[in-house]
Amino acid sequence: MAAGMASVLACSFGAAVAQDKSASPAPAAMPGIQGQNIMDVKPEASQDPGYLNQSNAERDKVQPGNNAPMWRAVGAGSEGYTSYPKADAPEAGVLVQPFVQYPGSRLTTAGEAWRQVRNQWIIPYGAALLSIALLALAIFYWTKGTIELHGKETGRKIERFTPFERAAHWSNAIAFVALAVSGLIIAFGKYFLLPVMGGTLYGWLTYALKNVHNFVGPLFVVSLVIVFFTFVKDNFPGRGDLMWLLRGGGMFGGKEVPSHRFNAGEKILFWSGVFFLGLIVTASGLVLDMLIPGLLYERATMQVAHMVHAVATLLMMALFLGHIYMGTLGMRGAYSAMREGYVDETWAKEHHEYWYDDVKAGKIAAQRSGHPASENSAGRARAA
Ligand code: HEM
Repeated sequence: MAAGMASVLACSFGAAVAQDKSASPAPAAMPGIQGQNIMDVKPEASQDPGYLNQSNAERDKVQPGNNAPMWRAVGAGSEGYTSYPKADAPEAGVLVQPFVQYPGSRLTTAGEAWRQVRNQWIIPYGAALLSIALLALAIFYWTKGTIELHGKETGRKIERFTPFERAAHWSNAIAFVALAVSGLIIAFGKYFLLPVMGGTLYGWLTYALKNVHNFVGPLFVVSLVIVFFTFVKDNFPGRGDLMWLLRGGGMFGGKEVPSHRFNAGEKILFWSGVFFLGLIVTASGLVLDMLIPGLLYERATMQVAHMVHAVATLLMMALFLGHIYMGTLGMRGAYSAMREGYVDETWAKEHHEYWYDDVKAGKIAAQRSGHPASENSAGRARAA
């Protein structure tokens, strides 16, 4: 029995096991099964100088059964036959993608190159970027604390965001948070959730979150476009922006530098985060969702879209962590402005003096929508 097993293994696994044959002689030929270590088939054929350049047919003549040339071609991306129409499945005949070198990978088959970029760059450096951003905000908060109002509130309110502006902002912010949380768990969850939850639960969680991500993505795109057009008019460079930047907003000592409705920091975030990264994130996301009509969706398309999407979203998350911090913990009264729509005149004067001046001069209406500040919301705004 043991001798029989040894000879079966010898048939399957080659030279190392075949040596065992000398210890226990193989039984006579086994009917029906023919197997042999490929290295034992005419080893002298490999001495031929043209050996490595042989086609599969040529190799078969000198070493019957040795299909290495065929598999080498498959590994290098050659196309085989498929009955799928090219228009529906352009790559169906290509089992392994050709060699490519993505930035940060070795020159290797594209799937492996993409894997190297993801696992050796995007995941570790993305985690480092977000950790550094969080740490920087924590240190900033511990050393500087919340930016408080210095003057006494007047009780007179200015409408900072209309209901439409707030609806646009919060739809976008809610979609962003859903995408950020689902995206982060899909990318990093296996390091911190999988060991605690186990494979079954984590598998279901990521499956559900992948669908959340895929469906919320297009909602984010639509709300981002609305946010862009809603706020763009007040985000063009203007009076005081350069001074604001040169003096870091006046954050480190001294009085806050006057600004219009949005300061230069907010404008930079708008153009770099909402516009530039927003464009890259949404375009690559729509490719990954396969929603761009007429595009040829090949593996390389998805690999490139994924790498672009991952890098841009990580940068966007790091940027918007700063925005979320300033909108909540960082500045007294900012969050209630976006929740209720109103700020006190003192807040406007201290944080956006040129805007306040224009409101006082009657150039900008203090009440733009048909929804004046209710007693209730004004009270809540004062408390926040
Ligand atoms: C939970 C997440 C968020 C919170 C708590 C938050 C909070 C705020 C607050 C308080 C303001 C008012 C600032 C002011 O009065 O000057 C604001 C403005 C704004 N937010 Fe957000 N936000 C969040 C997410 C987002 C996201 C994801 C985006 C876009 C991708 C965004 C885009 C904007 C824009 C465009 C403005 C107007 C200021 C400007 O144009 O520079 N916000 N946000």
